[in-house]
Amino acid sequence: MHIALSLPERESSPWMALFADALPKATLERHEPDRSPRGDVQQADYVVVAYPSKTLFVEQPAPKAVFTVSAGVGHVLALANLPRGVPLVRVEDAGMAAQMIRYALTAAMRFTQRLDTYRRQQHAAQWIQHRPRGPSQVSAGVMGLGVIGSAIARALAVQRFHVRGYARSRKDLAGIRCYAGRDEFAAFLDGLDFVVSVLPATPETAGILDRDAMMRLADGAHVVNIGRGNLVVEGDLLALVDSGKLSGATLDVFREEPLPAAHPFWARPEITVTPHVSGLTIPDETVAQVADKIRALERGEAVSGVVDFVRGY
Ligand code: GLV
Repeated sequence: MHIALSLPERESSPWMALFADALPKATLERHEPDRSPRGDVQQADYVVVAYPSKTLFVEQPAPKAVFTVSAGVGHVLALANLPRGVPLVRVEDAGMAAQMIRYALTAAMRFTQRLDTYRRQQHAAQWIQHRPRGPSQVSAGVMGLGVIGSAIARALAVQRFHVRGYARSRKDLAGIRCYAGRDEFAAFLDGLDFVVSVLPATPETAGILDRDAMMRLADGAHVVNIGRGNLVVEGDLLALVDSGKLSGATLDVFREEPLPAAHPFWARPEITVTPHVSGLTIPDETVAQVADKIRALERGEAVSGVVDFVRGY
């Protein structure tokens, strides 16, 4: 079996060694991204996209399956030569859900404990006590109920937040009120104090958190985005923070990454910015998952995590 992996030469990551350990009988080839396509490369049975190279699929037009090393696949779907007739398989959890649960819970607890407010008061040397508030007084919504989103929704429910979930299709999660599709989106948002989005970037989700959507939230609500940057209309979010409609936001993903130095988010005390770290790929868990799926495909079995090209995730 031959596997091609797109990975910049300069990157000193453990991918090659991990794949060699996990699939000792396979031959591995590192595709240096965006080089001029070569006609003499060995055709791979499987391609792993650790870096979205524009020339990868010119050289490898017909693998049996393509794997990403991320949960989001927009950067791979955007590749012009991506073969559409074979499965594209994305990472499912592989250690990301636990990280993203911690991130979402931290933001939810900071909101509940009003720590952002006290931080701002500290800068002004203000000693003002606010009424205590517990999770059971907070309505929290999770947008996106895949493997990661449903784990976050459950974790919030365990902490006794009132949890609603929103997904494209109907989901059934114990203790969580689930809303499905754009028809039910407004009802999902109405009066939420805290909303966390883990939606993927698709044509349907672009700009989903715009002014109209965020105006439906409770006054003083807090928005968390750990899905993709283009879910949020950034100017609308800033305007709603300015007007006091939103008390703040915790943002890990942005329309442009790295977030440009001149971007207004950096300087806003109401907005917490993190550099796309809420769910980092863990190489050994990811390779173990990909290797298991390659073995399953070789046995002729179906695998999970196959991207629906029409849905976009
Ligand atoms: C990270 O953003 C991922 O999609 O895995």
